[in-house]
Amino acid sequence: MSEIKACIFDLDGVIVDTAIYHYKAWKRLANELGFDFSEEENEKLKGVSRIKSLELMLSWGGVIDKTGVEKEQLASRKNSWYVEMINQMKPEEILPGAQKFLEELRKRDIKTALGSASKNAKVILEKTGLLHLFDVLVDGNVVSASKPDPEVFLKGAELLHLKPENCVVFEDAVSGVEAAKAAGMKVVGIGSLAVLKNANLVIPGLHEMSLQKLKELQ
Ligand code: BG6
Ligand code: MG
Repeated sequence: MSEIKACIFDLDGVIVDTAIYHYKAWKRLANELGFDFSEEENEKLKGVSRIKSLELMLSWGGVIDKTGVEKEQLASRKNSWYVEMINQMKPEEILPGAQKFLEELRKRDIKTALGSASKNAKVILEKTGLLHLFDVLVDGNVVSASKPDPEVFLKGAELLHLKPENCVVFEDAVSGVEAAKAAGMKVVGIGSLAVLKNANLVIPGLHEMSLQKLKELQ
């Protein structure tokens, strides 16, 4: 039994839902390049880094002739549209229960960290007014290996000066659940049990989370 001293949160799909903005920006890029991009394809990009997402999208569209420099330009074009949208985000877009649970943790002196693949995580937390509720941020700017590699969560524990076994991860993506497991942490899946079957607990959203349920994971 290990005492839970910190909670590490994925951002997209756990704290806020930015998938719709990623979708709109990728679709705009795909359309400019002469093909379409579906919501089903967008689902497959959840938790995937920006450049890897671009490569997948190009392959689905049958575009195989882009150089590394061109790919960088396309990714940054997509990102500029995405940033325009997230700059308009408001606190109302925080997913149900997320802010309340973060506040409860801090009242109990349980540390909080963000563990996200996004390079835009800080802007999103600023715009939604949540930045002050995190002790540390680990995002796509400081991590080199994508989930399911455990780097993002191990870095969070390290910055908090805690051992992995004292941390619980909250994740909505299968790759994120695997990353947390590989880090030696407990993991709460946000979504459906059928998909996130390797998580220690699965809940539909943070509105269903409580300090009691956290304690039961110990
Ligand atoms: C993840 C999203 O959180 O961040 C992915 O689920 C996204 O869809 C990735 O590609 C990288 O985001 P960004 O903001 O750095 O382009
Ligand atoms: Mg996610």
